[in-house]
Amino acid sequence: MLDFIDPGAIPGRRLATGEEIPCIGMGTFGSDRYSPEQVSCAVAGAIRFGYRMFDCAAVYGNEDMIGKVFAQAVSSGAVKREELFITSKVWNDMHGRGDVLLSLAKTLKDLQLDYIDAFFVHWPFPNYHAPGCDGDSRNPDSRPFSVEEFVQTWRQMERIHDLGLARHLGMSNMTIPKLEAVLPLCRIKPTLIEIELHPGFQQPEMYEYCVNAGIQPIGYCPIGSPSRPERDKTETDVVDTQMPEIVEIAQAYGVHPAVICLKWAIARGQIPIPFAVAESKYQSNLRCAIEAPLTAGEMETIAKADKNCRLIKGQVFLWEGAKDWTDLWDLDGTITK
Ligand SMILES: NC(=O)c1ccc[n+]([C@@H]2O[C@H](COP(=O)([O-])OP(=O)(O)OC[C@H]3O[C@@H](n4cnc5c(N)ncnc54)[C@H](OP(=O)(O)O)[C@@H]3O)[C@@H](O)[C@H]2O)c1
Repeated sequence: MLDFIDPGAIPGRRLATGEEIPCIGMGTFGSDRYSPEQVSCAVAGAIRFGYRMFDCAAVYGNEDMIGKVFAQAVSSGAVKREELFITSKVWNDMHGRGDVLLSLAKTLKDLQLDYIDAFFVHWPFPNYHAPGCDGDSRNPDSRPFSVEEFVQTWRQMERIHDLGLARHLGMSNMTIPKLEAVLPLCRIKPTLIEIELHPGFQQPEMYEYCVNAGIQPIGYCPIGSPSRPERDKTETDVVDTQMPEIVEIAQAYGVHPAVICLKWAIARGQIPIPFAVAESKYQSNLRCAIEAPLTAGEMETIAKADKNCRLIKGQVFLWEGAKDWTDLWDLDGTITK
């Protein structure tokens, strides 16, 4: 078994800017389950193994520990800073005037970086919840999406790009109606978008829309997030690693079903960012990018198996008067007010 994968052997994805980045990265959200020490230790092992892309966020509460790992990896010569593609995100409570720069400053300090490779607006509204809250928790200050407020936040994103502090800008948890409303107002367009994508939730229209708009999708929860916080679980949720189509293909390849979810993501074109702290798991996740790809027939089988089942419903961000979590996702094609 390989103990290092040459990052040059990992296929790339060409962004609208012309830059090529890895076709797979590593997530760093410990799901209120894994400590910052465990996550940063996995990041260190992942760099040694050949990962070069890492998805971070202020709200994950571990950027300071991960920063120590990045600093050590660069200062020891294990990797050059410019070989890493590090992303982070402004949390919902830092959308106010001037706060995006403050948020990025803290992230850069914690991650021990001079610049971030891509900075995302984590959720398209300022509604936030307390860390570790349960699913019924509501913040009375929460309100529906506002184009005006979002654009004010985006202007700050453009400013940090102008300053050279973020090389690329990204959005996350958007819908087509929201993108249609805000993209024409962006002076600097997002290069990347982070959305939930896994075999049981493929979002074909959203995926196509983003690709056609020149925005590279990053797929979060690519394995269906089996260890996600309890507040994000319901009884009817799809379990990707138990979908019969995925299990059958996994048996044919002699791999864990998680690996088939990732092979599907890579072959389709989104960048999956699987999370794992176990060495054997994060190693097989990267390895699958250089091993036999799925066939066209297997891709078709998985395309047909889509369950349209969103796992990260976001109900903790609902505002007073909202019907239910579907209000966050504009299901009727218009922005829900
Ligand atoms: N932008 C956003 O709003 C947003 C939202 C959610 C997530 N994210 C990002 O996306 C990343 C990934 O999402 P996620 O962590 O929720 O879910 P995920 O990557 O779909 O699932 C992670 C879990 O899958 C299991 N796993 C990983 N590799 C495996 C393998 N090879 N074999 C068997 N099981 C395996 C692990 O379970 P065990 O714990 O049992 O080992 C791990 O905890 C996050 O870490 C975060 O960076 C972004």
